[in-house]
Amino acid sequence: MKHLLSTADLGRDDAIRILDIAEDMADVSLREVKKLPTLRGITVVNLFFEDSTRTRISFEAAAKRLSADVINFAAKGSSVSKGESLKDTAQTLAAMGADGIVIRHPASGAPRVLAESGWVDAGVVNAGDGTHEHPTQALLDAFTMRRRLHARADGTSASRGKDLDGVEVVIVGDVLHSRVARSNVWLLRTLGARVTFVAPPTLLPVGVGAFDARVFYDFDEALRSVHPDVVMMLRIQQERMHEAFFPNGREYARSWGLSAERFRRLPESTLVMHPGPMNRGLEISDEAADSPQSTVLEQVTNGVAVRMAVLYLTLAADRGDAS
Ligand code: NCD
Repeated sequence: MKHLLSTADLGRDDAIRILDIAEDMADVSLREVKKLPTLRGITVVNLFFEDSTRTRISFEAAAKRLSADVINFAAKGSSVSKGESLKDTAQTLAAMGADGIVIRHPASGAPRVLAESGWVDAGVVNAGDGTHEHPTQALLDAFTMRRRLHARADGTSASRGKDLDGVEVVIVGDVLHSRVARSNVWLLRTLGARVTFVAPPTLLPVGVGAFDARVFYDFDEALRSVHPDVVMMLRIQQERMHEAFFPNGREYARSWGLSAERFRRLPESTLVMHPGPMNRGLEISDEAADSPQSTVLEQVTNGVAVRMAVLYLTLAADRGDAS
């Protein structure tokens, strides 16, 4: 695998291979010395044109645990604010010896342009492009679901080699602007899970029918008819909203938020997920976010292992093959 651009590019076996390697990487993170020599001598550039806390730090931790050299590049304060293009920026970094580029960009499709333009020879990993995709988030979400749903009674994981066949996932909120929802729906369907979107009609993309997911506008009705194993709450992406998509925050929380009251109606086995950062009191209540059913912090922890697996596969394994 030379690049990771979209979860739609992954077949079932590819996805399971990444998740299984991530299991090995998670084991490394439990050791006293959390480091492997795998990417020694390799340079990874984190090229972030959009704000990020957890994704950038997570990729940095992942690369360092594999002994890569890491260069962090934030567009703010760089020549990008002087108008330097993506092409010139990427070529400058490649000229400094970047073997891998982890890119987050506000324009949907920017990572694919970088990977397929021939401007650079580096492996490209999409860390979130506009409203399009966020493949490592979907992989860490699938990893988290797989671990929790295939946990043995003694607490150890029995998830290696498994998919998510028959798992019911309800994804709630700002689907329209969410690259997390898009990457998740492709990957979850590939792994055999069933997906339901719940959102106000204004926050669903045109052509949502193409997603192979059921759609509800009413959260309570969805919970009554779907009986989800997982409820994944999405952040309201205020920064991408230039008009009013719902009346006000209170109304949104009442209809589409995972309020304390709605959360209490879920069975104890239902997982509550959120990619972060959370708008507490808007899309999710403290009760839900801080409950034992919540996987929010596990998702962050698992993100490092999943990104280690992705960096390993794109930068070290099968180097030189055409896939
Ligand atoms: C997501 C993102 O940036 O798309 N966050 C993340 O990577 N942890 C989701 C979000 O910002 O809502």
